[in-house]
Amino acid sequence: MAIYLDHAATTPMVDAAIAAMTAQMAQLGNPSSLHAPGRASRKAIEQARESLALHIGCVPSEIIFTASGTEANNTALKGLYWKGKSVGRNVIVISAIEHHAILDPAQWLAEHEGAEIVSIGVTSNGVLDFSQLEQLLKDRADEIAVISVMHSNNETGALQPITEIVALASAHSIPVHSDAVQSFKKVPLSFSTLGLTALSLSAHKIGGPLGIGILVLKRGLEIPALLHGGGQEREIRSGTLNAPAIVGCAAAADGDYPGEHVREMRNLLAQGIVHVIPDAYINGASETLPGIVNATFPGTESDTLLLLLDAQGIAASTGSACSAGVQRPSHVLLAMGHSDKSARSSLRFSLGSTTSTSDVTSVLNALPGVIERARAANLR
Ligand SMILES: Cc1ncc(COP(=O)(O)O)c(C=O)c1O
Repeated sequence: MAIYLDHAATTPMVDAAIAAMTAQMAQLGNPSSLHAPGRASRKAIEQARESLALHIGCVPSEIIFTASGTEANNTALKGLYWKGKSVGRNVIVISAIEHHAILDPAQWLAEHEGAEIVSIGVTSNGVLDFSQLEQLLKDRADEIAVISVMHSNNETGALQPITEIVALASAHSIPVHSDAVQSFKKVPLSFSTLGLTALSLSAHKIGGPLGIGILVLKRGLEIPALLHGGGQEREIRSGTLNAPAIVGCAAAADGDYPGEHVREMRNLLAQGIVHVIPDAYINGASETLPGIVNATFPGTESDTLLLLLDAQGIAASTGSACSAGVQRPSHVLLAMGHSDKSARSSLRFSLGSTTSTSDVTSVLNALPGVIERARAANLR
């Protein structure tokens, strides 16, 4: 059976989510309709919203359902930028290690909407360089429309100092958005405790279905919409609500994530990698998500490694975007000080609740042969 170590890309749906979703798919009714089937569908959604709000640490009305984490990020970043711009603020502050679902809308706003992007660097551990942000706020706080820094990084698992960022930003009334797609259910996360303005989540990273994301947006705050139509979700996200996916998402969020087990497997894998491949090294901070190991294998090309591992039934990833079949070096590893070459020799293994000791052992057994062949291919 295949060994799946790409849980950060997407993780299997849990049984409870499949059951809840399947049952809801058999129900008729547009949740915006006033008749009985419509009201029943609406009721299922509102129950899911209430239960999700408890897990997220927000009030139910702060939840705006979207079709993906990508859409939640776009809606938050563009909406908060436009709101800021209307009062003369045009600077968007992001970290250098954001997911493309933040990097690319920020770039779009710069190209089309007059935004100036300031990208804050990270340390060699992949954690935001807080002193850079402090200096920026000393110099230019009144120009900043929005700060968006991810809660944890999808390639290295490094946790980011969101509490400190919010404390700094709120002294200047700057809204802070955080992409917490990888953190939800993996590490403690509370919207209200963090004091954020906006937060993005995605169901398929927690055992829920694809095609459903959540934007948590502070109560009472209005931002311009990307989608216009029926006025659903505070008129910020029009479109008939996807009741089956929403109840599936809530069912997944109700489940327990075996964080201790996943971290134990992660540590076993990380320690095993440097044991079986002595010149390999692990990238990232000491405070990480439980399930991500990012490793560099000098003298290899990550594309080759992925293919060789795949041939052994092992699914891993580089974690970075692949466009038009051309693998670019990870912008995250480059920001951490890697050379092009070492960034191109790195892999992400992401573990989940189904990962077992025997999975880890199989990977560690396969690695020496895989690395040897990848190095030989690289010399050719
Ligand atoms: C950090 C991060 N943000 C956003 C996304 C996009 O989420 P979705 O797949 O729901 O669009 C991902 C998915 O890989 C991610 O890892």
